[in-house]
Amino acid sequence: MEILQPTAAALERAARELRQGRLVAFPTETVYGLGADATSDAAVRSVFAAKGRPPFNPLIVHVADLRAAMALAQFDDRARRLAESFWPGPLTLVLPKVARCPVSASATAGLPTVAIRVPKHPVAKSLLVAAGIPVVAPSANPSGLLSPTTAQHVATELGDRVSLVLDGGPCDLGLESTVVDLSGPKPVLLRPGGLTRRTIERICGSLGDAEATDRPRSPGLLLRHYAPKLPLRLDADGPEAGEAYLDFGPPRLPPSALYRNLSPAADLPEAARNLFAMLRDLDRTEAAAIAVAPLPAEGLGEALRDRLRRAAHRD
Ligand code: TXA
Ligand code: MG
Repeated sequence: MEILQPTAAALERAARELRQGRLVAFPTETVYGLGADATSDAAVRSVFAAKGRPPFNPLIVHVADLRAAMALAQFDDRARRLAESFWPGPLTLVLPKVARCPVSASATAGLPTVAIRVPKHPVAKSLLVAAGIPVVAPSANPSGLLSPTTAQHVATELGDRVSLVLDGGPCDLGLESTVVDLSGPKPVLLRPGGLTRRTIERICGSLGDAEATDRPRSPGLLLRHYAPKLPLRLDADGPEAGEAYLDFGPPRLPPSALYRNLSPAADLPEAARNLFAMLRDLDRTEAAAIAVAPLPAEGLGEALRDRLRRAAHRD
């Protein structure tokens, strides 16, 4: 696999590889995505194979703008308002497909809906414009493991399963997009993410919770996910013997190899940016487990706590 700086030539080449059905990893403002032509069944299937992703977990389709999105899905007033407010950005909308939607049925796991997002990262945007096709892009990690926030993470974990990675530096947000299902009468928050619940609710009113509806839940919301190798112990005020510690706020311990602080200033955006990379760091140590400091439940804290809860889950 090659890691390329996103020059004009590299973007052209990446766009060509996508159009030819190959896999290209690229940066978005949330996490790195593993891209493929969303209209090609073979290309989409190779994404599932490269990640070891179960076929019932559908993918997000990425497009350059709202116009391109409208060729794939039906936008009602709510959908249009949300798209106009937050695209490009870390919001994914689940919408009914249009008739003869060109997206591969494998990408949507055979559902009548399609998840769509317009990313903000300039490299993602340029790539989508150059490719001129809708691009599926799950996070560029083996299924179930931590999401990648640098090109190096992708290279280490996917290796030759992807031919090239565009290097856009570390991701700004560090958490995946917020997924909102607009296919029913009430909007439902399927996955908390980089755009907070409160920000979205200002535009579309209160969001239902996936657990509280009778609609099928987001098939990808597997309880154990984002999982490091080491067990996690949440809401810990400090490490026990043998544990590494992931802190938040004024440091409880001096610096060491077994210690990371998501944000000494207790800043949630900074914590989000650091979460996956710091979990990876501590996961590589000789510790027996990773203890994690309590985090606020508000704002980005909702998504941070969601990821940690899934990472901590043991069957
Ligand atoms: O920030 C992001 O969204 C990143 C970057 C690369 O854009 N992508 C990402 O993709 O997180 P992935 O595949 O790791 O997560 C997709 C989520 C899953 O929870 C999946 O179940 C849900 O979106 N999803 C996709 N299509 C759906 C659909 N038709 N109905 C309900 N949920 C859907
Ligand atoms: Mg993922």
